[in-house]
Amino acid sequence: MKLQAIQAAEAKLLLPTYERNPILFVDGEGMYLIDDNGERYLDLLSGIGVNALGYGHPAVLEAIERQSRKLVHISNLYFHEGQAELALRLTERTGLDRAFFCNSGTEAWEAAMKLARAYSALRRSEGRMLGTRFLALENSFHGRTMGALSTTHKEKYREPFAPLVPGADFVRFNDVDHLRASFSSEVCAILIEPIQGEGGIRPVSQEFFAAARELTQSTGALLIADEIQSGLGRTGKWCAYQHFGIQPDVTTLAKPLAGGLPLGAMLCTAEASRAIHPGLHGSTFGGGPLACAVAIAVIDAIERGGILHHVHETGRYFKRHLNDLAAKHESVTEVRGMGLMLSMELDSAEMAKRVVAKMLERRILINRTSETVLRFLPPYIMGAEHVDLAVSALNDILTEEGAGLHSLAAAHQNTGGSRNG
Ligand SMILES: Cc1ncc(COP(=O)(O)O)c(C=O)c1O
Repeated sequence: MKLQAIQAAEAKLLLPTYERNPILFVDGEGMYLIDDNGERYLDLLSGIGVNALGYGHPAVLEAIERQSRKLVHISNLYFHEGQAELALRLTERTGLDRAFFCNSGTEAWEAAMKLARAYSALRRSEGRMLGTRFLALENSFHGRTMGALSTTHKEKYREPFAPLVPGADFVRFNDVDHLRASFSSEVCAILIEPIQGEGGIRPVSQEFFAAARELTQSTGALLIADEIQSGLGRTGKWCAYQHFGIQPDVTTLAKPLAGGLPLGAMLCTAEASRAIHPGLHGSTFGGGPLACAVAIAVIDAIERGGILHHVHETGRYFKRHLNDLAAKHESVTEVRGMGLMLSMELDSAEMAKRVVAKMLERRILINRTSETVLRFLPPYIMGAEHVDLAVSALNDILTEEGAGLHSLAAAHQNTGGSRNG
């Protein structure tokens, strides 16, 4: 089917949940996606932070081929070779003890929320004062299922589905005083994205994160770090919380975990895992043999290829060039992020929209989040040459946009400007 036929069929047959760009991708190679006309697009978004090794990586292809010849699915009623092997890799890299596997970010988050409620109930049964409330952060995004949504801050995502799961309060981002004032033994968990993703690539402050760790330790509540977007090497470390030297009790992973196959994981301490027993939580598909085999291959490829170091170095190079653009173009208000989780904030949502569209015309994929923020989540294999291409395109576009604004302002002045308007 051609693009137009697919568009017409989807308009009739699918729920209108997405506003897709009118491009039909049929192939991919390394850092590039390829459309049905054979045009190549430099991908700086990697399927929203998923395709960490780019397209057609031999480690991913080999694992899919090898495992799919053996077993794709068996359910969680029986053993297969992959879960313990993957859990070993993840526990070693996250500093946590036990893993639960599911199929997506939001499901990993649901598992973390359920664990926090079950653990607080266990502690109460052991005589400890611990309530059931969640403290989440303003501007947070944790997913779109009902539980995850109740800890996601943005009103536009929440409001149509009210009432949500009760018991979540929001703390002002990086406001330590507000965090301390909101915390009590009623709280079962503090929920933090170490770097807010959908919220515009905003790192939490060291002071705020440390205060959250100290408060939760004082009552036995859990500190839960959502690393679904920032985890598994995206920031140059396995988890973004490792940049802060803070160890949470629970973390969630998903996006890049299985090289593009759906897989999520919730990891926790042995202490928190005491709250779970057979039958309390589960998943039909979660942690299937194919997804686990690919995830093991992804982690090994990241390790063997020295990719964490590469992400760190390439991210620094990219960020330095974005900062140069910020110094040169008035419309850029801030550059944020770590490793290859970067953003550039502009002074208007309209301009951010136009810049994304003009990058697409130049066949470079980025996206806009939080209205005014250009977001970069490229595959970890991005090289300096790809950074140079992206930065040069951004520079041209921001120059055009700036010139456009200046000529508008000049025209406005020539016609009498606001005095007559
Ligand atoms: C920090 C964070 N948590 C949770 C989610 C939800 O993940 P998923 O879309 O896989 O359900 C996302 C998705 O963007 C995310 O960025």
